[in-house]
Amino acid sequence: MGEKTTTAKSIQPVQNKNFEPEWFVDRKLPWWSYFAKRWLKAGPLPKHVAIIMDGNRRYARTHKYGSVIEGHSRGFTQLTQVLDWCRELGAIEVTVYAFSIENFKRSDEEVQGLMKMAEKKFEKLLQERVKLEEKRIRFRFFGNLKLLPIKLQKLMAEIEWITKDFEQGYINVCLAYTAQDEIARSMEYIRRGVQKGLLEEDDINEWLVSKCLDTRKSFDVDLLIRTSGENRLSDFMLWQCSNCYLHVVDVLWPEFDFSHLYKAFLAFQKNYRPIEELNYVIREDVSEKAKEKSQDFLDWMEKDRETYTLSLLES
Ligand code: FPP
Ligand code: MG
Repeated sequence: MGEKTTTAKSIQPVQNKNFEPEWFVDRKLPWWSYFAKRWLKAGPLPKHVAIIMDGNRRYARTHKYGSVIEGHSRGFTQLTQVLDWCRELGAIEVTVYAFSIENFKRSDEEVQGLMKMAEKKFEKLLQERVKLEEKRIRFRFFGNLKLLPIKLQKLMAEIEWITKDFEQGYINVCLAYTAQDEIARSMEYIRRGVQKGLLEEDDINEWLVSKCLDTRKSFDVDLLIRTSGENRLSDFMLWQCSNCYLHVVDVLWPEFDFSHLYKAFLAFQKNYRPIEELNYVIREDVSEKAKEKSQDFLDWMEKDRETYTLSLLES
């Protein structure tokens, strides 16, 4: 992000002994996890795991919680564990579907409750910055973020900013996201690129579209997990999951434990085909010369996205 000296400043890290972490909690793995890890490491591992976390409200109802938000809150706790487990099992990148554009149609109470919860959890993440810096995990937010409350947008910009150089692991949180919207936003950048004279119509191909998506810096998705037994993609990562292995589990998200994740990794190994070869075959066909030709456009797009992040940090 250039030579600008902008720093994340609004939330200070907390390090006293009474502080209760929520994102980076030291939890014990089951005793057999050592053998599970050894077994998995002998085969191919999914580098990038995408997750549709479904079933929080049914969980809240089944457990007679006072509100569905308590189900989402249980879902958040489960998410922090699953993120740890994915790292333990060797995945480098995890993308989770936390809120779709469709979810804005839910009751005001639920939408506001989820927004407030996200706000609190992201403030907490900034307070857990010391651990974040130790683990060197980069956080990115995918989606039409301008649809979210401004306070949330600022917190997300701050988290992205302080983690932008980390490369030990990648966590992508999809908020105000649908795959169709992501592809449409990508096409809108391309339209503006043509209008500005940075691209010609003939420069448009699959490779270029993939370079304009939220996932443009991500690994290919290898494994997509969906909980609650629903066999639907719910407009999630449609472009990126065209060749990945899909694993549907018939448990509600807050019940998705280490054994379910282990089984998903095993199923991936069992069904493993040379996904890397299948993926992006056409994109690799694009010549270096054509890629170079689009570089000015891609640089401009990146700057435009950075300007938005910087404006949030500085406001
Ligand atoms: C789907 O279950 C879940 C959601 C729409 C929200 C998921 C959010 C979290 C797990 C918390 C993430 C929080 C942060 C800060 C990243 P559902 O509501 O569709 O439940 P149902 O299928 O039983 O109706
Ligand atoms: Mg659902």
